[in-house]
Amino acid sequence: MRLTRIVGTGHYLPEKVVTNHDLEQLMDTSDAWIQERSGIKERRFVEPGTGSAALGTLAAQAALTDAGWDPDNVQFIVNATLSADYYFPGNGVLIGKDLGLKGVGALDVRNQCSGFIYGLATADAMIRMGLYDRILLVGAEVHSSGLRLNTEGRDTAVLFGDGGGAVCLEVTEDESQGHVIWHHLHADGRYADELCIKAPSGKMNPYITCEMIEEGLTAPYMSGREVFKHAVTKFPAVIFEALEAQGLKPDDVAMVIPHQANYRITDVVRERLGLTWKTVYSNIHRTGNTTAASIPIALDECVKEGLVNRGDLVCLASFGSGFTWGASLLRY
Ligand code: ACO
Repeated sequence: MRLTRIVGTGHYLPEKVVTNHDLEQLMDTSDAWIQERSGIKERRFVEPGTGSAALGTLAAQAALTDAGWDPDNVQFIVNATLSADYYFPGNGVLIGKDLGLKGVGALDVRNQCSGFIYGLATADAMIRMGLYDRILLVGAEVHSSGLRLNTEGRDTAVLFGDGGGAVCLEVTEDESQGHVIWHHLHADGRYADELCIKAPSGKMNPYITCEMIEEGLTAPYMSGREVFKHAVTKFPAVIFEALEAQGLKPDDVAMVIPHQANYRITDVVRERLGLTWKTVYSNIHRTGNTTAASIPIALDECVKEGLVNRGDLVCLASFGSGFTWGASLLRY
């Protein structure tokens, strides 16, 4: 039976650290407000000129090195981002170009905070069905260029950071080896307007105007309370769904790696699962919310810090814009 194994992980965070105190200089906010509501102390921002494709490529190179792959070993790329370098094409082809891959297929996934989980499910299905043996899966975001770093935009500007993560996925036919187990994916588009970027918009003509920019429509809009309410129910529900489908309980999991939305959201999820912080990973105090990049960054940190070891049961889970949410279980 063909199964998918994670054979390499990698991540890249830009060098520039932006603390809450730095943001206090740009808007009416405070370190105490940000930490209390989100747990974030600092995040990384790129320098202008660096896009999410470049962060994705750097993360991919780290994952390739970890896997012992040459770029030529990559047979297909799946890339998740909401902050692509271009309106079109997606970043997948740019990452392929930067890795020197000519003619290798590339698929872009637009599922925001759930992008990595949707991407993993897609890549896993491709490997299981025999379409490819080796797939590079990337999640990378540059939020800093799209945030309104002023008092008008402060409700979302303090939450997000830049970064990239990647995994190398390879077929295995040995069930005793670590492998991806299964995925549970959900979406409910009735809530699309609760967390979104409204412009550029293909339903407007022209699809971008100076007025749209002045109104802040190119920055994220978030109904914070609605996001919080749904996140703290759907996150634990999908984790329980994934575990129960395999006859497992939260205690069986060596590490839950949730999308790093907000420390308070993760804390409620942790409580509802009845787990301690020993088996629920959080790095949001250092990274901010990096959307599609947050899970692969966290997974790589867990692996490199020895918090996730070969044979461990790991649950990846996400909730975000769409609303979309999902969970993937794997035996690392
Ligand atoms: N600094 C200081 N004050 C701020 C800031 C800021 N950065 N942003 C908003 N405020 C102000 C508001 O203007 C408002 O002021 P007002 O009362 O004078 O109108 C006040 O703070 C609201 O504060 P709260 O009472 O804490 O509001 P609420 O209880 O609605 O909480 C919050 C807002 C923190 C956004 C909450 O809804 C939340 O945590 N939601 C989750 C959102 C989230 O974390 N999303 C993550 C990104 S999406 C994802 O990954 C799934």
